Amino acid sequence: MMKNGYSQSQQPKSNMAASNNIHSRTPSPRKLSQSQALFTLSALVYSTIVMIGNFYVHKHLSGQLYDGESLKADFFADGHNNARDEIPSPSYPFGELYDGDTLTSIILQQVQPPVDDSQKPFRLRFKPGSLNLSTQQTLPYCYSDPSIYKQHFPQALHQVTSISDTYMLIYLMLPKSASSTARWVMDNVLNASDAPLSALGYELNEGGDYENYTTLTFVRDPLSRFFSSYDEVFLRYGPWMKKRKGDFFKKYNDFVHPYPYLYENMTDWDDYQDAFCPQSLGKERCTRMETKENGTLALRFERFVWDYDGVSPFDLHLHLQAPYLSNRRTGKPKRIDEIYSTTNASESWKYIADFYGEYIPDDGVLDARSAPRRVNASFVSLRTKQRICQLSAIDYCCLNLELPPECDISESDLNIYCSLEMNKRGEFQIQPWFHPHQVEVSDRPAYLRVG
Ligand SMILES: *[C@@H]1O[C@H](CO)[C@@H](O)[C@H](O)[C@H]1NC(C)=O
Ligand SMILES: *[C@@H]1O[C@H](CO)[C@@H](O)[C@H](O)[C@H]1NC(C)=O
Ligand SMILES: *[C@@H]1O[C@H](CO)[C@@H](O)[C@H](O)[C@H]1NC(C)=O
Ligand SMILES: *[C@@H]1O[C@H](CO)[C@@H](O)[C@H](O)[C@H]1NC(C)=O
Ligand SMILES: *[C@@H]1O[C@H](CO)[C@@H](O)[C@H](O)[C@H]1NC(C)=O
Ligand SMILES: *[C@@H]1O[C@H](CO)[C@@H](O)[C@H](O)[C@H]1NC(C)=O
Ligand SMILES: *[C@@H]1O[C@H](CO)[C@@H](O)[C@H](O)[C@H]1NC(C)=O
Repeated sequence: MMKNGYSQSQQPKSNMAASNNIHSRTPSPRKLSQSQALFTLSALVYSTIVMIGNFYVHKHLSGQLYDGESLKADFFADGHNNARDEIPSPSYPFGELYDGDTLTSIILQQVQPPVDDSQKPFRLRFKPGSLNLSTQQTLPYCYSDPSIYKQHFPQALHQVTSISDTYMLIYLMLPKSASSTARWVMDNVLNASDAPLSALGYELNEGGDYENYTTLTFVRDPLSRFFSSYDEVFLRYGPWMKKRKGDFFKKYNDFVHPYPYLYENMTDWDDYQDAFCPQSLGKERCTRMETKENGTLALRFERFVWDYDGVSPFDLHLHLQAPYLSNRRTGKPKRIDEIYSTTNASESWKYIADFYGEYIPDDGVLDARSAPRRVNASFVSLRTKQRICQLSAIDYCCLNLELPPECDISESDLNIYCSLEMNKRGEFQIQPWFHPHQVEVSDRPAYLRVG
């Protein structure tokens, strides 16, 4: 699937910057067997974890609390109440569909872009994931239009960032893209600590305090990530949060949920837990068990997908990846040297640690960090999954990720395409062909219509 998806490179920054090639190193067999051991051990660790519902909520949230004071600030600074700017409607003709190899040659300036006699700025259409470039080669061309994606950028002035001075390494956090694993490795293996970094990424630029540090992040398939984001915000903003005391929870207590009907017939944590883990199964198994929901959570999820406009995330965990990695003033990505895939997070971290001469213990710790999905995706209609892809087009385009099979339908009306343009400064830029506010809602499945 990920034909050209990710560079597995892990090299000193100077080499990376100097070259346009996809660097590739394969891990030694030793690393693979380490990882197999890791999986086995992690299974053992899971089976010994016993946590009941309320404790789990507390644990989960205090984990986030540990994520740092300013992360809370970032988290709650998401201005879901901000009015959105008026956004123009699409006015472009549907041009020829270019193949990725041709566009790659144009981007790399091996071939001239086609000349348009009409003097209109050119806009070349291509399929997500079709460029012959890695994610990290593609992202620098990304343009996240601040007037559209305003609420998807980090909202706080500063972001808590994991920085290792020992290895001159910075992990740029992306929520729901294996970020807790990343923070764990940074802190415990690579001797990192948290420091506030400008959300605009200035310290990473030439002349900045961290100009010589290597920056890395992990990205995730947007469709899979959306399910995970939804579960996270469903948990965080449930009615059960209103009952929790203390300063940290005050913000949740006061939160006016924009989609309150998602919690219909659910007043307490037990109701939610019963939905994904029926009482007959014994509650001690619930935390790590695969969901046993009967479709009630999936139906709520689908309603949200169709009511959500894709540009007004009410929580950090719903932010799209490309804008979250970008500067909200310029719409351009921060300097990121290495991008890895979450499909391979454990392996990649072992590889990175190994590069710096460090070692990740084989105690399953990397794999034990995420809760299983609560919404059973097999109850979610194909059309709803496709809408998620449509709303996430900027991530598919800017990270050069192929669409998942559900959304990769040629000749369909989904119209999930990317656009290569030239901006006013004469630089190439990549955007989705259609932005979330331009995606049709008229074909919402009948059973999701309200009233
Ligand atoms: C894709 O890129 C690689 C490395 O840059 C190159 O070797 C290969 O020929 C390219 N493939 C096509 C079809 O252009
Ligand atoms: C870990 O980082 C701290 C603070 O940057 C530094 O003082 C310490 O020497 C580092 N430890 C090692 C083993 O490099
Ligand atoms: C980065 O490295 C260059 C070259 O070694 C050096 O001149 C510069 O001061 C360094 N920047 C910082 C912030 O340390
Ligand atoms: C809530 O309960 C009512 C009454 O039983 C039912 O009609 C409705 O469908 C339920 N809502 C959800 C979202 O399950
Ligand atoms: C599905 O589960 C919910 C929550 O446990 C329950 O209220 C509902 O009655 C169940 N629906 C069916 C059709 O079994
Ligand atoms: C996972 O990472 C390893 C090491 O970086 C790489 O060799 C392998 O191809 C990756 N697997 C996938 C599915 O990306
Ligand atoms: C989800 O639902 C399908 C269909 O009922 C079922 O086969 C599957 O085991 C369920 N659980 C998960 C985790 O997919």
